[in-house]
Formats: sequence, structure tokens, C-alpha cells
Amino acid sequence: MRHWLRSQRSLTGSPPSFDVLTLPATPEELFGIWIREAASAGVEEPHSVTFATVDARGQPDARTLILKDLDHRGWAVASTRSSAKGAQLATNPAAALNFWWQPQMRAVRVRGLVREATEAESAADLAARSEVAQRGITANDWVLWRVEASRVEFWQGSQDRRHIRVVYERSAGSWRHFQLGS
Ligand SMILES: Cc1cc2nc3c(=O)[nH]c(=O)nc-3n(C[C@H](O)[C@H](O)[C@H](O)COP(=O)(O)O)c2cc1C
Repeated sequence: MRHWLRSQRSLTGSPPSFDVLTLPATPEELFGIWIREAASAGVEEPHSVTFATVDARGQPDARTLILKDLDHRGWAVASTRSSAKGAQLATNPAAALNFWWQPQMRAVRVRGLVREATEAESAADLAARSEVAQRGITANDWVLWRVEASRVEFWQGSQDRRHIRVVYERSAGSWRHFQLGS
């Protein structure tokens, strides 16, 4: 396995231009630009995301979800309250998300506290699912959660390994951003 893995190529794409001198004020704006650019570049299902939570014993867990919405209130995902993630979020209302868009060599990671949307919002999300996807799910089990980001990192890879890393951090309700060394 090790040799086979070594033979696989990584960072094979071509990054689009990314002007770090003209960054938007909020990570939601930059995310909106990046996910649309990913879709335009042919990335399939750019709204699928690795969603990580922590269980009652402090053990991390992760799975793939679909991003349902994004606005100033945060990154929204939905699932059943009775799922493993539902139990984990009930104990530890915090999550991390990781998007990876190949061949653009772009990744976005988001961390923050998780808040349940209103019952009406969760019900509306369930109602918007296809009939097949609604089957067997009761309205009181379906929850829309929002990750209220405290930190968002935009990572753009480069074949020469001079990766660009831009971090947005929220403090006292407003965003500041800065660049990390790669
Ligand atoms: C591309 C993709 C999208 C998915 N989207 C969702 C979703 O939006 N909601 C959901 O509950 N499960 C979704 N799943 C299934 C989850 O990955 C997972 O198997 C399920 O939610 C159970 O996770 P848990 O046991 O950690 O709670 C998706 C799976 C894939 C591969």
C-alpha cells in the first residue's frame, strides 16, 4: 500500500488567481466566490463537505454532508437528531468543516460553535428534500444546524509548495484577516 500511495500524484491541478491584497471583509463573501469558481471550473458537488464533531469522550468523528446555506449566521448543514452527529452536537455543540476542491488546489476549513436553527427552518429544509430523501424521517428528528465560525482558513496550493493561506478570525463580533506562512 505504501508504495502505491507514494505513486499517486497530489496537487495536480492548476490554481486560479488569488489576489490576497483585495480580500473581502468577511469569510462568507470569499467562500461565496470560491465555491462558485469551483463549480464553474467543473468541480462536482462543491457543496459537499467533511463535517467533524467530537463525542462525549472527546473522540473526534467526521462524515460528509451537504452544505445547505451560508449567510452571516454561518454555514448550515442538516441531519437527524438521532444520528451519531446529532448526539455529539447535543453534548459538544462545536464543529469543523473542510472543503477540498480539486483541480483548483483549494481548501477551506471552518471552525466554530454550532447552533440549532428554528423549528420552522428545520421543517422547511426537510420539506425541500426530495420525496425519497424525506422517507422515514420525522419532522421532529430533522435539524438544521449552523456553524457560527470563529475561524476560517482559505488554502490555495501551489506546485512549488508556496501555498497561500489566508485566515479570517472573529473577535468582538468583527472579522480580521491575515496571511500565514505556508
Ligand atoms: C456526498 C455526501 C453527502 C451527504 N450529505 C448528507 C447530509 O446532508 N445529511 C446527512 O444526514 N447525511 C449525509 N450524508 C451521509 C453522511 O455522510 C453520514 O453517513 C450520515 O449522516 C451518518 O453520519 P453519523 O453517523 O456520523 O451521524 C452524505 C454522504 C455523502 C457521501
